[in-house]
Amino acid sequence: MKIIEILREASRRIYENVKDLAGTDDAAGDFGRGAGGDISRNIDIVAEKTVIDYFKEIGFECVILGEECGRVELSDKPKGYVIMDAIDGSANAVRGVPFFCSSLAFSTENRLSAITDGVITNLSNGEMYWASKGMGAFLNETKIQVHCKDPIYKIVGINTSGASSELMKKLYPIFEQHNHTRHFGANALEMALFARGFMDIFIDLREKIRIQDIAAGYLIVKEAGGLLLDSNMKTLDADLGYETRLSFIAAANEEILKDVMSQIK
Ligand code: IPD
Ligand code: CA
Repeated sequence: MKIIEILREASRRIYENVKDLAGTDDAAGDFGRGAGGDISRNIDIVAEKTVIDYFKEIGFECVILGEECGRVELSDKPKGYVIMDAIDGSANAVRGVPFFCSSLAFSTENRLSAITDGVITNLSNGEMYWASKGMGAFLNETKIQVHCKDPIYKIVGINTSGASSELMKKLYPIFEQHNHTRHFGANALEMALFARGFMDIFIDLREKIRIQDIAAGYLIVKEAGGLLLDSNMKTLDADLGYETRLSFIAAANEEILKDVMSQIK
C-alpha cells in the first residue's frame, strides 16, 4: 500500500469516528496537557487513537510525532515520520463550529522539506485534500491549484489569535487596506482552502504555529503551486522538533506577495 493511501485511510477513519462527536459534552473531556503544550480534549484523543490503532493493525513501520501523544515509535526500522495533528482547530471542534480538520503528513527525514505525502480532511464534511511530492494536489479526486486569475474579491487570510499588540500594529495597514480579511481557526484547513484557490494569501506571523499544524498543508500548498515563505521572506523550512514554532506566508503569486507584504510596517 502506498504511503499516501495509508494516510488517506487513517484520515477517513478519523472522520468516521469523530463526525458525530464535535460540539457534544463528550468532545470536551480534559486529558491534561499533550506533547504540543495544549490541553488534550477527548475528541483529540479519540482521533489520535484511531490513527495509532490503524497503523498497528496494518503494521506500518513509522515514528509518529503526534500533537497530543508525542513521539510514538511503531518500529525499530521506521520508514519515516508521521506528523500528526489528528484534530486541528480543536476549539472549533469542541464548541461545534464547523471548521476543523485532521492533518497527517509523512516525512523521510527530520525536516519539513523532506515531507513526501500530506492529507487534510475537513471533519465537518469529509472533504479530503491530499498531495504526494511531484504529483500535484487534490481535493478528493480532483486536481486543485492556487488562485491564478486576478481575483474579483481579494481574500486575505491572517491568523491573529493571541497576537501581540506589537504584531497587530505592524499588521494594521493590511486590515485598513483590505476589506476581506479572514481567519477561521484551523491552520491546516485554512492552508487547504488557500491551496484550493479560496484565498489569495494566508499570513501567520505570530511565531506560534507548530510543526503538526503546518506539515500536511506545507506539501499541499507547494503542490498546488503556492509560494511558502518564512518571516524573512526565505523558503520555509524547519526541523520537526516539538519546540519549533513558526511564522509563514502562503501566497498565490509574487504579485500579491509583494503587494500585501509591502503594507506591513
Ligand atoms: C491551532 C489552530 C489555530 C492556530 C493555533 C493552533 P489546534 O491548532 O491551528 O488556527 O491559531 O496556533 O494551535 O490547537 O487546534 O490543533
Ligand atoms: Ca490539535
